[in-house]
Amino acid sequence: MTLLTWNHACPIGVRAMDDQHGILMDAVNELRLAVVRGSGREQVSQLLEQLIEFTNMHFASEEQLMRRAGFPGLAAHCAAHSEILEQIRHTAQRVQHGEGLKMRPLLLNLRDWYIAHIEEMDREYGPWLNERGVS
Ligand SMILES: [Fe+2]
Ligand SMILES: [Fe+2]
Repeated sequence: MTLLTWNHACPIGVRAMDDQHGILMDAVNELRLAVVRGSGREQVSQLLEQLIEFTNMHFASEEQLMRRAGFPGLAAHCAAHSEILEQIRHTAQRVQHGEGLKMRPLLLNLRDWYIAHIEEMDREYGPWLNERGVS
């Protein structure tokens, strides 16, 4: 399983969010490493809980920034955040309770959700915030 490499240079253009995205990706990588190394369900569940907690915090600060700046795509963006959180929670539940469950394919999806969201949706609010003095 290849590790996710993440460009820590400013892809969105809002420093605090780019920093948080870097931390999120580190957390996803840590999780994948744990699975590759054959860590137990217990430890993987714990890492997933940490990821959920951090994702919650990141989504909240991102939504607050967009709300303050009057970003027109706020509602759709919040809906996308809820959906991702629901998917991660679902994954966490399956890992916790699924006997004989293959964790690898389940966790591979995580990377795709995060990457797709950051590269497609988060990229949209960057210029809007920059134009309003947030960078
Ligand atoms: Fe984000
Ligand atoms: Fe987002």
